[in-house]
Amino acid sequence: MEQRLRMLLIDNGQEHLLKIYNRLAPAQQAALCEDLQQIDVHQLRELRALFTKQQTEHPPEPVFAPVPVTRFPPNDPERARCIAIGEEYLRRGRIALFLVAGGQGTRLGFEGPKGCFPITPVKGKPLFQLFAETIRALQHRYQTVLPWYIMTSRDNHALTDAFFKQHQYFGLDPAQVWLCRQQDVPSLDLMGRLILSPEYRIFKNPNGHGGSIQALATSGALADMARRGIDEVFYFQVDNPLVKIADPLFIGVHVDGRAQMSSKVVTKSDPHERVGIIGLINGRLGCIEYSELSPEQAAARTPNGELLFSSANIAIHMINRRFIEQLATDPAVRLPFHCARKNIPALDPETGAPQTICGIKFEMFIFDALGFAQRSCTLAVERDEEFAPVKNRTGPDSPETARAALMRLHRSWLRAAGCDIPESVAVEISPLFALDAEEFSTKFVPPAQWAAPLYIE
Ligand code: UTP
Repeated sequence: MEQRLRMLLIDNGQEHLLKIYNRLAPAQQAALCEDLQQIDVHQLRELRALFTKQQTEHPPEPVFAPVPVTRFPPNDPERARCIAIGEEYLRRGRIALFLVAGGQGTRLGFEGPKGCFPITPVKGKPLFQLFAETIRALQHRYQTVLPWYIMTSRDNHALTDAFFKQHQYFGLDPAQVWLCRQQDVPSLDLMGRLILSPEYRIFKNPNGHGGSIQALATSGALADMARRGIDEVFYFQVDNPLVKIADPLFIGVHVDGRAQMSSKVVTKSDPHERVGIIGLINGRLGCIEYSELSPEQAAARTPNGELLFSSANIAIHMINRRFIEQLATDPAVRLPFHCARKNIPALDPETGAPQTICGIKFEMFIFDALGFAQRSCTLAVERDEEFAPVKNRTGPDSPETARAALMRLHRSWLRAAGCDIPESVAVEISPLFALDAEEFSTKFVPPAQWAAPLYIE
């Protein structure tokens, strides 16, 4: 091993890798050295320091407080005013879309990128196709181009790229779709040491959805947005087929509030639902993890009987482009890493035997950017219309619940248009036919006869 790498290991408490290196075959040694060359020493020191701090320091319990939310009754003129603002931004091409799709989707257990997962109830369209068709419909409605940036990660970048190419970008212009790869970050064992994977590589994981700031900057996507005259970015996750992409109401509320970053929330369904809450943490805006609230706090109610901490984060944000630039370049507003204990496949540094160890994974979270925003709006929306996450293989937040939510929504559009479809019949309305109930009711003519399952395009 080169002297420089040897010193890097010795100076940073990683001598165990030297020991194991001496026992490896030449090809394995080469693989390990290749990974070590790429280690960012500064980051490694930072992660080790963070881990040590977590082990040794016990800060006082944080103080949590709820934040006011904006909620519009359907016929509120203020709502119409905000929609008009948002629509104007869309028409003038000032909005970009940013999808984070770099996660590992461990809980779903699907082979391949989560965006390729077939989700729609009748046609089985993959999430990426559903989003792409929605974008085409929005472009048609507002006579605009919505540049679409998609964050991928090491394990799914090539597959995502191939999927879009194989399907001719689902009818979008390839020039408007920009894939940017997030970085990986090394995990550590409980002694603060790098972990050797069974493939003789340094074990790394994607650096979290907060890695998107860096990914947008280093890939040139931010510069591309600036070139295209983008002011505001609509941020969403790959696992929510109900997301209202580029919702003009949300854009309008955010722009009108001169916010740097805004969030959509839904009302927490029961006190112990496992969702993050948009709220104040020691006076600073952020997302309170469900595990951080005590059972009493989670169940606390306001005088009018509503849950005190009820603003469930659904990971849909508007982020000002210049604010993203600031987050990417100004060290004073850099997103922090968080650590979590996870099971990690590894090689024993003493014996070289494969094993599963408890290690520390590091991730950044996009919602930490809220704490740096000088202004922010929190918009409450209806869960049934906007949020149906696909997280687990079965049970709650699974493909089954998401498909049921899509069908419930589409059945409600049909009902409003005078067509009552029995619960037992699967229904699906393509975004290319209608993006919402209003558009649906203006276009749809109930047929004299229809065949089950019902697909409308
Ligand atoms: P999740 O927190 O649900 O993680 O991601 P996940 O990796 O998709 O799924 P599990 O936990 O392994 O089952 C929320 C969103 O953030 C994206 C995901 O793709 C998803 O859209 N994400 C997450 C990234 O883009 N990169 C990451 O490093 C982590």
